[in-house]
Amino acid sequence: MEVMDLQQWHQEAKKRLHKIGQEHLLRFWDELNDIQKTDLLCQIDRLELERIPEWVDNYVHGEGTIEIPQDFEPAPYYPAQPPLERKEEYERAHIAGEKLLREGKVAGFVVAGGQGTRLGFDGPKGNFPISPIKKKTLFQIFAEGLLAARNRFQAEIPWYIMTSPLNNEETIELFEKNEYYGLPREDVLIFQQGTNPNFAFDGRIFLSGKHTIAKSPDGHGGSLKALYTSGAVSDMRDRGIEQISYWQVDNPLIHVMDPLFIGLHAQAESGMSSKTLKKSGPLEKVGNFCMVDGRITVIEYSDLPDEQAYRKKPDGSLVFELGSIAIHMISVAFVEKLNRHGFALPIHKAVKKIPYLDEEGNVIEPDKPSGVKLETFVFDALPMSKKSIILETIRSQEFAPVKNATGTDSAEVTHHMMIDRAADWLQRAGITVPRTKDGKPDCVIEIAPSFALYPDDVKSKIDQVPPILPGNWVYLA
Ligand code: UD1
Repeated sequence: MEVMDLQQWHQEAKKRLHKIGQEHLLRFWDELNDIQKTDLLCQIDRLELERIPEWVDNYVHGEGTIEIPQDFEPAPYYPAQPPLERKEEYERAHIAGEKLLREGKVAGFVVAGGQGTRLGFDGPKGNFPISPIKKKTLFQIFAEGLLAARNRFQAEIPWYIMTSPLNNEETIELFEKNEYYGLPREDVLIFQQGTNPNFAFDGRIFLSGKHTIAKSPDGHGGSLKALYTSGAVSDMRDRGIEQISYWQVDNPLIHVMDPLFIGLHAQAESGMSSKTLKKSGPLEKVGNFCMVDGRITVIEYSDLPDEQAYRKKPDGSLVFELGSIAIHMISVAFVEKLNRHGFALPIHKAVKKIPYLDEEGNVIEPDKPSGVKLETFVFDALPMSKKSIILETIRSQEFAPVKNATGTDSAEVTHHMMIDRAADWLQRAGITVPRTKDGKPDCVIEIAPSFALYPDDVKSKIDQVPPILPGNWVYLA
């Protein structure tokens, strides 16, 4: 192999950057030592230079090329409660899902590479304490769910965690410090997603330091590539994994392993499937599941024209009532197929306050938007799957994301939803839960996944539940 010396490498990079108007990335070259120079050249080599002019034209100067289809209809779905004529189909799927779990063919996968800026929490969001009594963190709740599922199905269920350069080291440290939350260490696999450069409004890539290009994670859509390039998929193959249960780091109510969802997805031979819930109103800020050219597609809330968003069925319900909540089943074969054929997801533009280095080398922390970040979204892969199913879930049972410091989707709301769900599970098993006049639980209840993974589990453990009086704090494990 021919070895390029630093000078030659520099000249090559300079030429390539000049061609696309990005040679300013080498502005501080003369001030760098050899290690810093090498580091910068490596970063430049890793940029997809050939795509940058198109990105600048389309997303920095333009608004992007995501087109809203001319014709789209609401997508078909499996209702949360099966209608009588489909009961048997649901039962079959449930059994098939359990079988896949028992055979050790399902892995868990959480995307945790985001910055979590809105929550204003320092460190990986997975370390946010959220459970009502024990203040368990999101990561701990997921881990306990996986442990309980491993025990239930007597199988290994590996857990893949996608981080980003923003939080990879801290996430690994957390898992180390917490001894992998009780999971076998070899079954927890942490890998990083890719990054995209950040652009100033004039189309120039920002530097964040004299030898550092400003980059940010490439969106949760990057998971479909990172699963492959990181070696996670090949590790899955070695372990005999066929299906991946995908969720976001912000939702402690997630059923990490749902036999019905797994079974419906696998029986349909779907590449990628989704859970949905009925939107709380026409303009709720979630994507809309639609059918476009025979394929399930998510149309973002911001892209759905108002006249469609408000359309109603004769019974008064919304025509586009199915919201996307970022819970998916993905087959390993689908991830492999996408990557073997060099797929690219559509790019979404986000205008953000991005810190950067000015021409004099000073770090600027802007207080208003300063540039553009580029991301891809995982649900944009749905139409790439020939077959895909959607299963409805119930908000109070499975969706309480912690996103904001206050108000909607805040920790306070999530906290109450966790108590409400626990109270509901107990009540379904015939246990009396004291309630206030407005029907809210007049107590604090926390159910550990080891006690009940699904609502029905409570029934066999009623004798372990003490009588609950108003104001009591009850932790069940
Ligand atoms: C997202 C969805 C929205 C869905 C909602 C459900 C988009 C554009 N919207 O909104 O349709 O209804 O969740 O809660 O996605 N992440 C990475 N790497 C990244 C970016 C994000 O791993 O580069 C992860 C985050 O860690 C988090 C998840 O993806 O687990 C969601 O990211 P976030 O930016 O919070 O999405 P939302 O805008 O809240």
